[in-house]
Amino acid sequence: EKGGYPHFMLKEIYEQPKTIMDCIRGRINVEGNNVVLSGVIDNKGKFINASRIIIVACGTSWHAGLIGEHLIEEFCRIPVEVEYASEFRYRDPVITDTDIVIAISQSGETADTLAAVELAKSKGAFIYGICNAVGSSIARATDSGSYIHVGPEIGVASTKAFTGQVTVLSMLALTIAREKGTITKEKFESMVKHLQELPEKLKKVLEKTDDIKELSKIFTYAHNFIYLGRGYNYPAALEGALKLKEISYIHAEGYPAAEMKHGPIALIDNEMPVVAIATTDRIYEKTISNIQEIKARKGKVIAIVTEGDTLVCNIADYCIEVPETVEEYAPIVTSVPLQLLAYFIAVNKCRDVDQPRNLAKSVTVE
Ligand code: F6R
Repeated sequence: EKGGYPHFMLKEIYEQPKTIMDCIRGRINVEGNNVVLSGVIDNKGKFINASRIIIVACGTSWHAGLIGEHLIEEFCRIPVEVEYASEFRYRDPVITDTDIVIAISQSGETADTLAAVELAKSKGAFIYGICNAVGSSIARATDSGSYIHVGPEIGVASTKAFTGQVTVLSMLALTIAREKGTITKEKFESMVKHLQELPEKLKKVLEKTDDIKELSKIFTYAHNFIYLGRGYNYPAALEGALKLKEISYIHAEGYPAAEMKHGPIALIDNEMPVVAIATTDRIYEKTISNIQEIKARKGKVIAIVTEGDTLVCNIADYCIEVPETVEEYAPIVTSVPLQLLAYFIAVNKCRDVDQPRNLAKSVTVE
């Protein structure tokens, strides 16, 4: 049932061109100029009038939530907060009946996320779920929602669910923005077009597997890793670090690149591998200066860059190219090489990739 792959995780990484397709199928019209997420359309008054959106989730789903915050604030101009469900539920948060709470959960069974949903519901908020497991507890507890439709995820490390969650959050933001009139026709159509191109682009990313496997050998015995990104790629950096931690047991931290100078740069020496996500976007130049600061302290830089990049590749020690897309979809494209890098390092270390120590696929304890 692993379909010829040595691990479910690798199979699930490879499924992503198809799962993104399954996720957008039926939600983009044939002409390719409209997005219809029915859960949003059915409740459009609620979304248009929402004073605030609060996203609650844990782990990888929380990382997807951070990208959702960028998307919704950029396109819908609704203030968004992203909270760890486990913190939210215990801190007596201010929630009103004009708030919308979006719960993101692959399994739909995470105890803390479910409890956050119940709490928000008791305060009168409208609850929207983004789940994978159909009919799961969280899906049933919400007022409405959208499934990510990526199929069962067996590997404990979440991969295809993450890219599916970000895809649904993109469609959600586009649907609300269109209804609210907060996005231009040009930007909307460009976003839809780029969304449709993602499956093909992910196939291109997967062609880099052999290169990433080779690269992974250099870092099998590293004790620490830092992952950097800015803007839409900052959550991708957090997610890359989490993948490495959970399956290879190597200590890794994700940081917004510009925060390095406020402390963590003290960690940099010639034994510190730094994964820098530096695809072309509105803060590309700034990211380059952050990478220069790392190189000046002799850090080993592995850069994830846009195809054809020369500036970053001239500075970095190693470069992995990914196809160009709009910056809003960058984390979908850049998270895949980071999944592969974590996977191969863990395999090199003979770790139990699909069932890492101390972890369970759904965390039903508080
Ligand atoms: C990381 C991972 C966990 C989950 C988290 C939330 O790879 O799998 O961090 O993302 O436990 O799980 P769900 O999304 O099922 O609520």
